[in-house]
Amino acid sequence: MSTEVTRVLTGITTSGTPHLGNYAGAIRPAIQASTQAGVDAFFFLADFHALIKCGDPSMVSRSRMEIASTWLAAGLNPDRVTFYRQSDVPEIPELCWMLTCVTAKGLMNRAHAYKAAVDANAAKGVEPDDGVTMGLFSYPVLMAADILMFNAHRVPVGRDQIQHLEMARDIAQRFNHLYGGGQDLFVLPEVQIDEDVATLPGLDGRKMSKSYHNTIPLFEGGPKALKAAVAQIVTDSRLPGEPKDAEDSHLYTLYRAFATHEQAAAFKAALEGGLGWGDAKHALCEQIESQIGPMRAHYADLMAHPDRVEEILRAGAQKARGHAVPFMARLREAVGLRQPTAKAGKARHEREAAKAKLVSFKDSTGAFRQRLFASDGRELLLSEPFEDPKLLNHLGRVLSGADLSAFAVDAEGLVSLMAEGHCWARCAQAQVAAVQESLRSL
Ligand code: TRP
Repeated sequence: MSTEVTRVLTGITTSGTPHLGNYAGAIRPAIQASTQAGVDAFFFLADFHALIKCGDPSMVSRSRMEIASTWLAAGLNPDRVTFYRQSDVPEIPELCWMLTCVTAKGLMNRAHAYKAAVDANAAKGVEPDDGVTMGLFSYPVLMAADILMFNAHRVPVGRDQIQHLEMARDIAQRFNHLYGGGQDLFVLPEVQIDEDVATLPGLDGRKMSKSYHNTIPLFEGGPKALKAAVAQIVTDSRLPGEPKDAEDSHLYTLYRAFATHEQAAAFKAALEGGLGWGDAKHALCEQIESQIGPMRAHYADLMAHPDRVEEILRAGAQKARGHAVPFMARLREAVGLRQPTAKAGKARHEREAAKAKLVSFKDSTGAFRQRLFASDGRELLLSEPFEDPKLLNHLGRVLSGADLSAFAVDAEGLVSLMAEGHCWARCAQAQVAAVQESLRSL
């Protein structure tokens, strides 16, 4: 088995409701990538970033819930991916400050978003920095902290973010140079632009984007809202029976993003054969619905149970902090913010830190579960839900004496840890050795 793991990380600003363009252009490919072997994916809700763009608290909180539910309903597996909220990891703003202290102001002066604001002010004839907050100005530093905190190798983003990635590399290099003492503290992240993912046209034919007010909602409003939006897509005035230019039609571009090659070819032939725009819109709705329809119930269920989403995000933050806390301690050390090195304190800290933990809890459905944490705080697994807490405990104990390497791996790369005919938990194959060691040490 290859031990090379690529850490892939991306953030989603929580300042809106996900639309079809977000789904086809970002969510769907990211989830797909997260299932590949050798990929350790970190996906997070950039809610601190949302505060820069949006001053409406109810909008920020609603968007956080909608976006989290969307990713989960679209198939993100939180046991496999580290899925968390930026604001649940206090080490990120702490690192952001350390980076701020080594970032040249001149570098930030060159950021596209800031320059665009200054240009717009010049055009209006007002002060260059009118309406520019320090949040907007130092946006790229916070983004660098998001990425460098987890030493991400690859960061899949849209083209508009390329400059931010270059800045993150710049800042990382400078920090490494100043504080690394010959060793690199930060990995230099690579930007990843996916050329082959779909860029969807919006209702007016321009790129689908919240800022153009031309989006088609993904889940919000149900199939009705989808139909109503599709009805508004602009077409030419050719009548039913007249051949249409499929390649030039937004309906066809949208259709293709949700269809197999064969289905798309059939749709194209039908348009060229004179299919009416009304019928074509109907077919487009059905095609989109065939892909997202099955996820709707899950989305609605999550939106109706915010406590479940909350629990998943909390567990994700704990996983993320399993990396962030020890790394931050190292960085504090590097910049000179050392902890007092009383020997006793250190020894106690090491003893406490060096213990694996098995934590039992009742989940939001009322079932009992356990989480296993490694000695470094990383979450290794979440058990299956059990009605009987005694059975759950018992199975964990039985497995701590078993040889876990003997269990088979399934097609998803997961191992079912079985005892006495029950599946106690499923965990990634790569984690089995760590699970074994942690269970034995309890
Ligand atoms: N700035 C990104 C955007 O608007 C969101 C984001 C915040 C992000 N932090 C990140 C993306 C870290 C990748 C990595 O799309």
